[in-house]
Amino acid sequence: MLLPFREHLDFGPTPYDQLQAREGIPVVKGNVVSAVLALELAPWKRMGALGCYLNLAGQQQTDAYVCEIPPGGQTLPQRHLFEEIIYIVRGHGATSVWQDGTSKLTFEWGPGAIFAIPLNASYQHFNGSNAEPVRIFAGTTCPRMVNIFHNDDFIFRNPFNFRDRFHDSQDYLRFNKHMTDRYWETNLVPDVNQFVLDDFPMKGKGVKHMRFTLADTTYGCHVSEFPPGCRSTFHRHGPGAVIIITQGEGYVMLWKDGEERKRYDFREGTVYSPDDLMWHGHFNTGRGSMRHFAVRGDSPKYSHDRFRNPLWTMIPMDEEPPEIHREYLQDLARKGVKADVSVVED
Ligand SMILES: [Fe+2]
Repeated sequence: MLLPFREHLDFGPTPYDQLQAREGIPVVKGNVVSAVLALELAPWKRMGALGCYLNLAGQQQTDAYVCEIPPGGQTLPQRHLFEEIIYIVRGHGATSVWQDGTSKLTFEWGPGAIFAIPLNASYQHFNGSNAEPVRIFAGTTCPRMVNIFHNDDFIFRNPFNFRDRFHDSQDYLRFNKHMTDRYWETNLVPDVNQFVLDDFPMKGKGVKHMRFTLADTTYGCHVSEFPPGCRSTFHRHGPGAVIIITQGEGYVMLWKDGEERKRYDFREGTVYSPDDLMWHGHFNTGRGSMRHFAVRGDSPKYSHDRFRNPLWTMIPMDEEPPEIHREYLQDLARKGVKADVSVVED
């Protein structure tokens, strides 16, 4: 019989918990947020906008937040010693990025855009509309960094400039390189739903995928597309993956060994995050393709960790409980979608 490596002791709130409490905005827990546009937000003094934390999946490696900028508004200038990858859920606007001694580089964005903030660069977001709010979803490495350094001055008022990660010329915005199959380096993707992804035949017929390194971050992200009638196998890995559906509809199944399987329907704007070693599978039940954007793990450029946890595994489809695929086929039949039994995994 396997025994726990060590007993669980509750040492109270972590430095990251304390930061969240000080900031006083809602902290959403659990594994699934059904509609990111429906989240209730509160005034967020540091950002000068509205916000909430998505502290999902009971982990403090990486995290997410949602921020809303009212029509005609802007955030307060920020800089911080954690990495941040942004997905624009709603609205149109612009972001200025700069370092001490550089000019401001400003770029525009709309729904579906992704970009990263260069580490510890200053930045400010602007809502470009006087009628519509902007809603931002962002993944960050804030918990990891705050729990290590637990010092607000060091994290939020650190004067160091990472010159190797940013320059204020238009070349920064033009940088766009297909490094190899399923891997791009760039600094701004205008729309993840329009971006041409690469085939990933080993994951299933028609499945497409792209990993990104944005703004030279070590924090990773990717976009996956599941064609109609296509689902993934179940797999599990370490904590910190946060996924937002950017197009289409379907459901996710989540469970941990020894626990009951749970099914959550999703659509554009649903966010979910599996716990450490939680099995998860993505099922497209819509008539069109389903896409999701995931922030997780290391970027391709900085995937230096040579250790592969042997518990990070996939369940071959012919070894999963048969009722899982039966339920999927029933859902597809109800919606009149032809099943493609290809096996995919992200
Ligand atoms: Fe995954």
